[in-house]
Amino acid sequence: MHKITIAIDGYSSTGKSTLAKQIATELGYIYVDSGAMYRAVTLYALQNGFISENNFNANDFVMVLHEIELEFKFNPEIGFAEMYLNGENVEQAIRTMEVSSFVSTISAVPEVRYQLVKQQQKMGKDKGIVMDGRDIGTVVFPDAELKIFMTASPEVRAQRRYDELTKRGDKVNFNEVFKNVQERDYIDSHRADSPLVKADDAIEIDNSNLTLDEQFQKIMELVSMTLESYE
Ligand code: DC
Repeated sequence: MHKITIAIDGYSSTGKSTLAKQIATELGYIYVDSGAMYRAVTLYALQNGFISENNFNANDFVMVLHEIELEFKFNPEIGFAEMYLNGENVEQAIRTMEVSSFVSTISAVPEVRYQLVKQQQKMGKDKGIVMDGRDIGTVVFPDAELKIFMTASPEVRAQRRYDELTKRGDKVNFNEVFKNVQERDYIDSHRADSPLVKADDAIEIDNSNLTLDEQFQKIMELVSMTLESYE
């Protein structure tokens, strides 16, 4: 069967990764969470003293980018790949509020984007991939056969993120999460290099009032239509 590339972009906490995983499982495609790569680079910057008291020196940081090795390793127990930073599983460590607070700043650095986009394009060279992020349909895979742009109200997204963090035992308050969601939206959409914008040919889905199942059915219809057009 013809394999396609599926790009899923959108604001933070719109449920992109949940949806992308469901689609990848259904189609037997590779799933790549590009945000995990930006988060891992941010974790490295935090662990190695490049961010202190809210100061970040991008010029110094780009000099050490070559020291950062990112790898997705498949975990058969969960059925998906997990993020490894220089050989260490950082899947949990990259999802903290601290990383979330700095990830948009690090992601705005052109050299960081250049390195990660190159790796992402390599992962998708044989198609059969679902990748989610902010610039997948515009920059990483501008020729993707199916592009989805996900939105939901900031309140709904902050609540989802808050539920996710408290469920895993993190002590956070809702306002802090809400503020972080809004700040990331702003920085991600206003940066000079590859800002978050809907690709002209992306299909926009507002999932504020959709259940996971309704959303999945809707997207699978689009996937089927796209696949049929290649038969
Ligand atoms: O998908 P996420 O919320 O885990 O992504 C974390 C941050 O990484 C997001 O706020 C912006 C950045 N990012 C990006 O700039 N480009 C991508 N393709 C994916 C994520």
